[in-house]
Amino acid sequence: MTYRLAIMISGRGSNMIALADYALQEDVDADIAVVIADKPAAGLDVAKARGIPVQLIDRQDYATRQDHEAAIMNLIDSLDVDGVFLAGYMRVLSAEFCQHFNHRLFNIHPSLLPRHKGLDTHQRALDSGDKTHGCSVHLVTAELDDGPVLIQREVEVLDADDADRLAARVLTQEHIIYPMVLGALASGLLNVSNGDIEMNIGVLPGVIPNAPAPINWPH
Ligand code: GRF
Repeated sequence: MTYRLAIMISGRGSNMIALADYALQEDVDADIAVVIADKPAAGLDVAKARGIPVQLIDRQDYATRQDHEAAIMNLIDSLDVDGVFLAGYMRVLSAEFCQHFNHRLFNIHPSLLPRHKGLDTHQRALDSGDKTHGCSVHLVTAELDDGPVLIQREVEVLDADDADRLAARVLTQEHIIYPMVLGALASGLLNVSNGDIEMNIGVLPGVIPNAPAPINWPH
């Protein structure tokens, strides 16, 4: 059965495009039901150009966070999706929202969690003198950047790195592991619906159908 996903973004959407390019391959059984942004975001135009349904649900149009999140939840619920992928969605979600999509809500975070939760992860990795840095895909729970990690990729921190250079190398890895998780879910290799991550996690570094190659960004 086709794995249907919604993707939530706030910005350029390069991870969304990596997911879309993967999902749009003929032999990948995944369908992007909608790309949602909380503000006018460059990624919406890129998604639209690929024929993906997009929806701007602008936070400014809602009096409260609760109303805004309710609009997003209603839209996603109406589309009968299997998973919701946060891809550079820059708003902290309420516990209610996380609970509503429990075991169906994924995030990509630019650090080797549990290190460097929150913002400015690349600069913080440099400031801490980390020898390695990287990215993580995790299930989202009510605690910020705290849910069970599904997969991580490491990059070496080089002497010549500044935050931008490090971020670019991490981003290349992000574009590999997020589609990998989608591929594992869509092919049934990974099933997190009962929250039993430990049992399934072993499949991820293995063979994923059409394992994604890094995309070049910007296109
Ligand atoms: C990525 O680094 C992602 O890990 C973080 O926000 C950034 C979004 O980039 N959550 P993009 O919009 O996917 O290009």
